[in-house]
Amino acid sequence: MIFELTEEQLAVQQAARDFAQTELLPGVIERDNNQEFPYEQIKKLGELGFLGMMVDPKYGGSGMDTVSYVLAMEELSKVDASASVVVSVNNSLVCWGLETFGSEEQKMKYLVPLAKGEVHGAFCLSEPEAGSDATSQRTTAIDMGDYYLLNGTKNWITNGNTASTYIVIAQTNVEAGHRGINAFIVEKGMEGFVVGKKEDKMGIRGSDTHSLMFTDVKVPKANRIGEDGFGFKFAMKTLTGGRIGIAAQALGIASGAYELSLNYSKERKAFGTEIKNHQAIQFKLADMATEIEAARMLCLKAAWLKDQHADYGKASSMAGGYGYVKEYHVERLMRDAKITQIYEGTSEVQRVVIARDILK
Ligand code: CAA
Repeated sequence: MIFELTEEQLAVQQAARDFAQTELLPGVIERDNNQEFPYEQIKKLGELGFLGMMVDPKYGGSGMDTVSYVLAMEELSKVDASASVVVSVNNSLVCWGLETFGSEEQKMKYLVPLAKGEVHGAFCLSEPEAGSDATSQRTTAIDMGDYYLLNGTKNWITNGNTASTYIVIAQTNVEAGHRGINAFIVEKGMEGFVVGKKEDKMGIRGSDTHSLMFTDVKVPKANRIGEDGFGFKFAMKTLTGGRIGIAAQALGIASGAYELSLNYSKERKAFGTEIKNHQAIQFKLADMATEIEAARMLCLKAAWLKDQHADYGKASSMAGGYGYVKEYHVERLMRDAKITQIYEGTSEVQRVVIARDILK
């Protein structure tokens, strides 16, 4: 067992750390206060190859491994989880699914600009009555011959307004249950596709979360991903990888808060000495460091299993993180941390996945 990172992985980690300090940190509090999307920062992340990290270079990606992706996600999330969620969704929920299951035509048309970071994407599964219970899709896609007619509403969609390419999960054949579900590539601007209200969230306030409405949207048949009825499995397989990205985000938020706490403990004085000299504070820091390291190992193990093409479902659900509070940046990190217990499968859903795996 080798715990050492390769030179390439270390270089990616350093590049993400530098980017977070020089490009994300300035203005992060203002963006959080104003619920402002980090447009400039996402554009630069795209130019540096962070939006298509694991995509084959022949499709415009950076051709890196999942371990590098976890390292980058941790570093970016230490400073700005609103920016890192765009990186996570685009890499794991949009690019990965298209590269793994898309047709050559879909890859050339949609994956290349997404992997190059010229545009970014959104993954549209959640509905008012289909959150954790993802098979209960109310959005319908009726087969009309050359195209599907898409109708319904999606909720809490990350990158809802800023995306150009949307992967939309919809029910084509109700009788067939989850085997009647399909995944479609929908473009911003298709007639009948309207972006709804923006959510006013507790955390990741710079990220744009919207509801989306589809009314008689004609989606060409060529935009269905995979065989008829593959949509639910497509969503589950995609989310399994997505959960590694979100776990790394939770890890980054926690380790960002830890680093701030550690530095603060060396500056703040109480009872005539820096608070780092009080055992009560030392114990808190020691516990944080231990739990963060455990979470980091779980994330890296899930990423490593994925890179080995081994089964990583249980590992990706096990990977998780924690948050802490103190003063301004850490207060924001605490609010941002909450969402990682909800999206891409709630903590309860992760337990379902883990329990099924260990009991099978
Ligand atoms: N990989 C491949 N196939 C899978 C799978 C996986 N990980 N999980 C399930 N399947 C398959 C099953 O094998 C089964 O197929 P067969 O009938 O052919 O055997 C089919 O899918 C149905 O599976 P289940 O009966 O297990 O389905 P279920 O209804 O019991 O659901 C669940 C299981 C784990 C709870 C699942 O519904 C789930 O993960 N729900 C949470 C959804 C979620 O994470 N939503 C987040 C929204 S996306 C988001 O947050 C993005 C963002 O904005 C950042």
